[in-house]
Amino acid sequence: MSKNNPTMHDKQASFAGITLHIDPVSKKRREGSDNVMAIFWEEQPMWWYFIKDIVKNTIQKVKAPVDFLDVGTGGGVMAILAKKHAGAKIILAIDKSLRAVKESQKNAKRNKTPFKTKLEFYNTNTAPYKSVKVISINAPYHLYPKEMEMDIPQHARGGIDGQQVFKEQLAIANYHLADHGIIVFNQMCLGRMGRPEFIKYIPELIEGASLVYTNIFPPIKSKVFFRKVYGNTFTSYQNEMSKKYPELYYCNGVITRNGKGSVKRVVHRLDLKGRSWEDRFELHRQISKHGVR
Ligand SMILES: C[S@@+](CC[C@H](N)C(=O)[O-])C[C@H]1O[C@@H](n2cnc3c(N)ncnc32)[C@H](O)[C@@H]1O
Repeated sequence: MSKNNPTMHDKQASFAGITLHIDPVSKKRREGSDNVMAIFWEEQPMWWYFIKDIVKNTIQKVKAPVDFLDVGTGGGVMAILAKKHAGAKIILAIDKSLRAVKESQKNAKRNKTPFKTKLEFYNTNTAPYKSVKVISINAPYHLYPKEMEMDIPQHARGGIDGQQVFKEQLAIANYHLADHGIIVFNQMCLGRMGRPEFIKYIPELIEGASLVYTNIFPPIKSKVFFRKVYGNTFTSYQNEMSKKYPELYYCNGVITRNGKGSVKRVVHRLDLKGRSWEDRFELHRQISKHGVR
């Protein structure tokens, strides 16, 4: 285990005073009860450090029956952190994968942060209308050609442009989000003209929303990413995607339902612990390699 600096190869990860059992990226997967996403320093820990204060404030200040909805909880990481550090009492956690449901429950027990996880596809019946203060979304965003779809682990399977599931989940979250509530997200996202694509569709999907986001790493050329991950294979996919979306972003964000409609990029001062896009290239190579049934 890499204490306080988890990587894709760890079975167990510790940071921010919690310890989780998760599946290393190379664990053989099963479609019916897929692997639980691993923890990587630049992903969940940095995401948590970016959002923790606003999560805590929102849970304290907003009036709504549900404190925290963890959409696609995986190993339960965000729900556990919200319970342990942000005062969340009423928590809804869901995942479409049976293994995630079971492992998140074990992790909740392990950290003495009990909540229930439901086996469920995210849908409008997950919670009542405008009932949730904080919604956490880390939708799958791996980029892969269509022919690989069923070989990709479900925690990484978000459509060929990596944005399909995020868009679907945002559209549903719009129904659940309380006034003045927030949606916190982590996403790798294709973009163009200096902007990740989510800047375009978030205002269309979430009514009365403002967005604050940060680039975890500086954006890169998407053709570099595709080449690093797929080499000389799937070249028409690589060319098509990088022509349409020449840039690639890796971001944390907070969407607030405050009626203001503003978009702001902020520069984070979080410790990168030496992580860079090189780690992401390797992660996505491993996801493509080990996903095969
Ligand atoms: C990228 S992983 C994130 C897991 C965890 N939240 C984290 O940050 O480590 C996405 C998770 O969402 C689940 N998932 C994907 N689509 C879903 C859906 N439509 N409904 C419920 N769960 C979904 C996957 O099974 C996976 O566990």
